[in-house]
Amino acid sequence: MIVGVPREIKPGEQRVALTPAGVRELAEAGHQTLVERGAGLGSGIRDEEFASEGAALVSVEEVWARADLVLKVKEPLPEEYPRMRAGQALFTYLHLAAVPELARALQAADVIAVAYETVQRADGSLPLLAPMSEIAGRLAVQEGAFYLGKAHGGRGILLAGVPGVPPGNVVVLGAGTVGINAARIALGLGADISILDVNLDRLRAVDDLFLGRVITLMSNRFNIDRVLRRADMLVGAVLVAGARAPVLVTKEMVASMKEGAVIVDVAVDQGGSVETIRPTTLLDPTYVVTGVVHYGVANMPALVPRTSTFALTNATLPYVVQLAGGVPAAVRRNPALGKGVNVWRGRLVHPAVAQALDEPATPLETVLG
Ligand SMILES: NC(=O)c1ccc[n+]([C@@H]2O[C@H](COP(=O)([O-])OP(=O)(O)OC[C@H]3O[C@@H](n4cnc5c(N)ncnc54)[C@H](O)[C@@H]3O)[C@@H](O)[C@H]2O)c1
Repeated sequence: MIVGVPREIKPGEQRVALTPAGVRELAEAGHQTLVERGAGLGSGIRDEEFASEGAALVSVEEVWARADLVLKVKEPLPEEYPRMRAGQALFTYLHLAAVPELARALQAADVIAVAYETVQRADGSLPLLAPMSEIAGRLAVQEGAFYLGKAHGGRGILLAGVPGVPPGNVVVLGAGTVGINAARIALGLGADISILDVNLDRLRAVDDLFLGRVITLMSNRFNIDRVLRRADMLVGAVLVAGARAPVLVTKEMVASMKEGAVIVDVAVDQGGSVETIRPTTLLDPTYVVTGVVHYGVANMPALVPRTSTFALTNATLPYVVQLAGGVPAAVRRNPALGKGVNVWRGRLVHPAVAQALDEPATPLETVLG
């Protein structure tokens, strides 16, 4: 199969969907890779690094015109719609429920669109979303620590403290992938940490993992209200799958926080868990409400594209290799990959996407025949 990797064109997107290691693995399985010139530059990967593993460096037109399987990071943008060809397969983040016009474009282009974010294992886990949550969770504390600096608008707190001065206090709302990764970094920095969740099993896992060095609390209004009053940093890390994030921190609670405390609401991409949060960008990440610094960047992994590219492709590559061996066979053999199919040659396959577009879903078995 010919596998194509165009350069990402979404503003600010610096990741790339394949690394030189992926090119080699595909070559060893007998596949040819076409990489658009400059596709890896944002992630610090030079064209020669792809070429030395056997990739052909080509123009964007050639990638789309020749590839049977196109690998991307972000969804195709309108200028890419006319490049898609009937029967071509596309593997990328799509988030179709939020962009109905893209779903229509994919249907009209007669392509097979497999979305990273809906690839799902039998236990319900989402293996191609997890790496970005790991990054966002770790970055949340690193960014929060920076904004706690006085010159950056914060309270002027060193999270670690020093002998004779207590460490900063970090509250993490949600003990999933983002929350646990945030707690890990906060612990590494020497902060004093509380983590809250509604799921007792998650709290048990945190208690085991950190050997009791992170305080676990049931998430309810009473506890949230209490811990926020002494927090120097709040990390919002909740998720209710498929729904808007629950608003757990009211504006009155924000007003009760210390002057110069920092809120990093990672859940902002699902609407946010703090009443006063709104999406911001990496170019202008923070704003202040009632003396509290708010950080609402909705695409945090974009700050560290090199790490993000390697983390993402480590997770996607095994699926890429399966798809390159033949798309129908791959999605039939691997049910997790089957869940990733959103659109199959004009038909909407993923039930949640079909529902969001108010159209009936066609079962995968039907389209596979
Ligand atoms: N901003 C970004 O750049 C970025 C990047 C990656 C992920 N995210 C977002 O971060 C959020 C968390 O992702 P995740 O992978 O950690 O999800 P996850 O499913 O692993 O964890 C979510 C946790 O929230 C808990 N939760 C649900 N309701 C709660 C409540 N009322 N109180 C406390 N906890 C509650 C769940 O029990 C679960 O443990 C998602 O919205 C995700 O989209 C944002």
